[in-house]
Amino acid sequence: MPKQIALITGIAGQDGSYLSELLLKQGYEVHGIVRRVSIEDSDHKLGRLSMFRDQLHLHTASLESYASIHQAVEKVRPTECYHLAAQSFVSYSFDDEFSTLNTNINGTHYLLAALKSAVPGCRVYFAGSSEMFGKVDEIPQTESTRFRPRSIYGISKVAGFELTRNYREAYGIHASTGILFNHESPRRGYEFVTRKISRGAARIAAGLQKDLKLGNLDAKRDWGHAREYVEAMWLMLQQPQPEDYVIATGETHTVREFCAAAFAWVGLDYRDHVITDQILFRPSEVNVLVGDASKARRQLGWQPKTHFHQLVREMVEADCQAAGSTSKLVPELGVGIV
Ligand code: GDD
Repeated sequence: MPKQIALITGIAGQDGSYLSELLLKQGYEVHGIVRRVSIEDSDHKLGRLSMFRDQLHLHTASLESYASIHQAVEKVRPTECYHLAAQSFVSYSFDDEFSTLNTNINGTHYLLAALKSAVPGCRVYFAGSSEMFGKVDEIPQTESTRFRPRSIYGISKVAGFELTRNYREAYGIHASTGILFNHESPRRGYEFVTRKISRGAARIAAGLQKDLKLGNLDAKRDWGHAREYVEAMWLMLQQPQPEDYVIATGETHTVREFCAAAFAWVGLDYRDHVITDQILFRPSEVNVLVGDASKARRQLGWQPKTHFHQLVREMVEADCQAAGSTSKLVPELGVGIV
């Protein structure tokens, strides 16, 4: 069997790090595209890769430059390409609409065009998002639910999804989109709500901070474990036909429930520490997301394994360790005070 060569954009992020580990274990030669600033500040920006950094091949390129993307693709000549890089923080997309659209739409287009020109047989994964569903038409959401995005980020992902579909239909590229619902882990960035909460709870328990400011506590999300979601990405590229798949747990919880569970693990009541701040509310919100991953279960044999409370616990535990907290995790203090 010829050597499998993977190229991952966004390799330094949460998903990129889990995916790299998975592919290395399977014997892939793993290449990643990173920004020049990441190499210059690698302790900080490539921290998630530190355990296996010496096994990776990193290339500097920018999603804003077709020439640099084409050069990287031509050099690596991947058999599989996972396009994970994006401006992925939804809130930020309201503040800087232009750069979100530019990076997310043009970046995807540049990559698809470069792959088509240099390695048309390469299989491609595009990181879609449940944020594409936006103001949802139906619950739960499936591959055929209409997209009604409510943020510039969501709009950019719908455009990426359509570009991917078009490259598949027009040029016969094996390109699939994973419509991934929220997926978290101890490697999640600090700006996302779950990590903000797990870290906040751990630091409050350790006496390092008193309060935690959050926005909308009533938004509902379908939260799974990132380590399992990258397996679904890989499975999509092993299928004979490229298709799009919803990846989700099928369970939804409010941000408030996440707070209650996280603080309960450290023996605290979130109501004594969480403050809501209007500044952290979004101009237009996606109120409820819950996915139906039956197609992935049927066709990929994929299903989520980590339950919401296990996920919260794993994240809080890791953040307690980082905060040097001696707090014992105390589940009996009522996971689920809301
Ligand atoms: N980030 C953040 N910070 N979110 C907050 C806060 C806060 O202080 N307070 C409440 N929230 C609410 C947001 O309004 C949103 O409804 C929910 O928490 C989740 O926000 P995020 O964790 O930022 O994630 P997201 O759902 O907007 O987007 C994530 O999931 C998408 C998949 O659906 C990101 O990972 C996207 O890149 C991804 O595509």
